[in-house]
Amino acid sequence: MTRSSGSPVSPIAPVASERLLIRPSGPLRGTAVVNGAKNAALPIMAACLLTDEPSIIERVPHVTDVVTMIEILRQLGVSVSFADGRLSVAPGRYTGTAAPYDLVSRMRASVCVLGPLLTRQGKAQVSMPGGCVIGPRPIDLHLKGLQALGAAFTIEHGYVVGTASGLRGGRVQLGGAFGSSVLATANVMMAATLAEGVTTIEQAACEPEVVDLAHCLIGMGARIEGQGGPVIRVEGVSRLRGAHHRIIPDRIESGTLMIAAAMVGGDLTLEGARAEHLGAVIDKLAEAEVVIEKLDSALRVRAAHPPRAVEITTLPFPGFPTDLQAQMMALMAVGRGVSVLTEKVYPERFMHIGELNRMGAAITREGSSAIVKGVERLSGAPVNGSDLRASAALLLAGMCAENQTELTGVEHLKRGYQNLEEQLVRLGADIQRIS
Ligand code: EPU
Repeated sequence: MTRSSGSPVSPIAPVASERLLIRPSGPLRGTAVVNGAKNAALPIMAACLLTDEPSIIERVPHVTDVVTMIEILRQLGVSVSFADGRLSVAPGRYTGTAAPYDLVSRMRASVCVLGPLLTRQGKAQVSMPGGCVIGPRPIDLHLKGLQALGAAFTIEHGYVVGTASGLRGGRVQLGGAFGSSVLATANVMMAATLAEGVTTIEQAACEPEVVDLAHCLIGMGARIEGQGGPVIRVEGVSRLRGAHHRIIPDRIESGTLMIAAAMVGGDLTLEGARAEHLGAVIDKLAEAEVVIEKLDSALRVRAAHPPRAVEITTLPFPGFPTDLQAQMMALMAVGRGVSVLTEKVYPERFMHIGELNRMGAAITREGSSAIVKGVERLSGAPVNGSDLRASAALLLAGMCAENQTELTGVEHLKRGYQNLEEQLVRLGADIQRIS
């Protein structure tokens, strides 16, 4: 395996022993600038492997998952540098084909190098992603899609080993038991850009991050149509040029900040937040009596009293995003009335229920639904976030709980939020990081 380096990437501070001390917050006021979307940046970084020309990607968030993806690219022999949200990737004639266990086990999204490596190098070895705290996360749809283009796979010593001698376009169905798959759509779309002939992806994921990837690929010379809808058509080309792309603002960070304002009240302007990416979230917050106003390049969020209870079902885009389910549950925990939250993307993504209940919430689980009886107030407690979004939900809960909440699992926050706690402090929250 070759290894090459670019300029050093500044490390991300938190270690597992760090905690946040969160005290009750007054209303949040001011403006926050939304960072680039982690879930758009990761597959777009993998897309840089499709060419030997250098690429520049802007508005890349400085989060641990991005740093892990940089390490994967470097392991493959690609030179990468990253500063101030600007990522420069110079693949040259990289020869690596393997994403090793220690990196893949840190971040499941590593699997999105599979498509680019197969189509470019004819070979890919990616450690088989294991179990995950938010429930089972198989990769059968990724493999099915790439097989339809002519790749063959074996599982060897914990690795998915893929080979392909020239991929050919084909018809690919990506519907699974829980809807389409975002990263499987990304993998097949990337592989298809350099495959011979036309690929039609049916039941493609419609998420804005898939659309952003398609726009980046089109900028590299790919021929793609239909992105954002359930059928994507890709006509293979013989080569792609380097990318110059700016990542979309993070809709999940936007939604998390909107929910924070709904929890403690206030008047927030979220610069960069895009209403068209947040339709279902805006709709549900409006139903909860949060006032959301669309400005030119921002959203303004105003909340003055406890939210009304609402019923929510998470679904693939344009449905309510699973990545905001935990935060919304924290909000509904202090809602007026009984809310029902049904999880249709990851039916086991409920680890935060027990922790919210430790703070005085009244939540019971029934299968893939949570019944949330709103309480007048939460009470601060030591709690542990089990994953990125669960940690965010507990941070928000701590802001509207009496006394002090001590949150562990803070390292998860840095996987996907560039500076959530700093942003909240600037807007008026009382949060302190301690080791
Ligand atoms: N699924 C399969 N087979 C597959 C792939 C997925 O059955 O081969 C199932 C999953 O188990 C799940 C559903 O399909 O039940 C949807 O999973 P999907 O593949 O769409 O998830 P992903 O692409 O691996 C991305 C985000 C997740 C986000 C999901 C759903 C990235 C890097 N990750 O994951 O983000 O929850 O889409 O929107 O884009 C997060 O940011 O906290 C996060 C977990």
